Amino acid sequence: MTETLIERRTRLMGPNIPTFYRTPVHIVRGQGVWLWDADGKRYLDCYNNVPHVGHCHPRVVAAIAGQAAILNTHTRYLHDDVLDYIERLTATLDHGISQAIMTCTGSEANDIALRMAQAVTGKTGIIATDATYHGNTMAVSQLSTRRPPIGGRWPNVRLVPAPDGLRPVGGSVAGQAQAFADHVAAAIADLNDKGFGFSGLMLCPVFANEGLPSIEPGFLTPTALVVRAAGGLMISDEVQPGFGRIGSHFWGHDALGIAPDIVTIGKPMANGHPVAAVLARPDVMAAFRDAFGYFNTFGGNPVSAAACLAVLDVIGDEELQANAARVSAYLLDRLRALRHPLLTDTRASGLFFGVEFTTDGVTPAAEFVGDLVESLVARGFLLNRIGRGSNILKIRPPMPFGIEHADLLADALQAALDASPINK
Ligand SMILES: Cc1ncc(COP(=O)(O)O)c(C=O)c1O
Repeated sequence: MTETLIERRTRLMGPNIPTFYRTPVHIVRGQGVWLWDADGKRYLDCYNNVPHVGHCHPRVVAAIAGQAAILNTHTRYLHDDVLDYIERLTATLDHGISQAIMTCTGSEANDIALRMAQAVTGKTGIIATDATYHGNTMAVSQLSTRRPPIGGRWPNVRLVPAPDGLRPVGGSVAGQAQAFADHVAAAIADLNDKGFGFSGLMLCPVFANEGLPSIEPGFLTPTALVVRAAGGLMISDEVQPGFGRIGSHFWGHDALGIAPDIVTIGKPMANGHPVAAVLARPDVMAAFRDAFGYFNTFGGNPVSAAACLAVLDVIGDEELQANAARVSAYLLDRLRALRHPLLTDTRASGLFFGVEFTTDGVTPAAEFVGDLVESLVARGFLLNRIGRGSNILKIRPPMPFGIEHADLLADALQAALDASPINK
């Protein structure tokens, strides 16, 4: 059955379509933190941030169905709901960020953010880290590191070394914040030398795709000083940490104590309904609106707005941010009690965990973690891996993930580790 689907995908969608796991899972139903495949096997979802408030949350389903039955239109008609949403969403943000452009994907949001930085500064140079992913438009994919763009990276793009707890930039954890800022300063100088100038730095404030390194609040303070002194903009890609996932704060940049000029959001916003946004101060928005005649046919349409509003309601009513903080502390303790010779570091940022395996304290045990992921899938637990070396287990469940789910996962992980060959 699954084999047939894979072949059919290839025939109809072409080769090399990414799927998770060596035997891709054919999910047919979801509820809360649980998923079921076509054979009726149940999985605990320890991975997905798109169903932020839980798979098929009845309030989001009702909001989407209700609005779809009343009206869904192009976004160039007037409608209250998108405005209500932007008002409620921007009320969660400081730093003068009070306006939004609604889009359909995080990639589009980041593409706009790059253009905003260019519109404000009149410059084109852009900086990101060298182990990141910010999306798949032509411009944003220039910042991705997994597959270099055909013809090489655009000459106005610079990638600086990503922070790393085990292999710190500059050689020491204590000096890493300044070393990172120094790399950004050097990249800005180079962009200026080459005539591009510097428009902005795009970062995920928890460095999720980079491997979720442990960083202290204030880590980006020296970098923000460098960026500001050069007249550039700080762009916080909150696609992964936003909407309360990190537990301590609603937004990742607030945990770090930086004031972004632009915030981008996506995946978790509407529990799977495709909507995303760019949030900015009015002066930044005005510069963009003056420079580009932008509209987005679907972004923030009435159905999307209804889904977005319902997600905000559920996060608040079900106290999911507080749940993230509580379950984070509990699961981190349980993960830190795991025993395996290759287990090197365990860290968390709210309901987002990284469990890193190395062969000698620094060398990534990528194949081992690949096998571990497969072993957990076979046991009914969906998770995956992150990091430059693909050697970090990535655990990032829907927000209603509870203590009982944390126990199930920790027990399964220890069982999978016990059953694994020690060195691979
Ligand atoms: C940090 C980050 N930014 C942006 C994106 C792109 O979002 P989308 O797939 O909705 O275009 C992703 C997707 O994985 C992401 O992880």
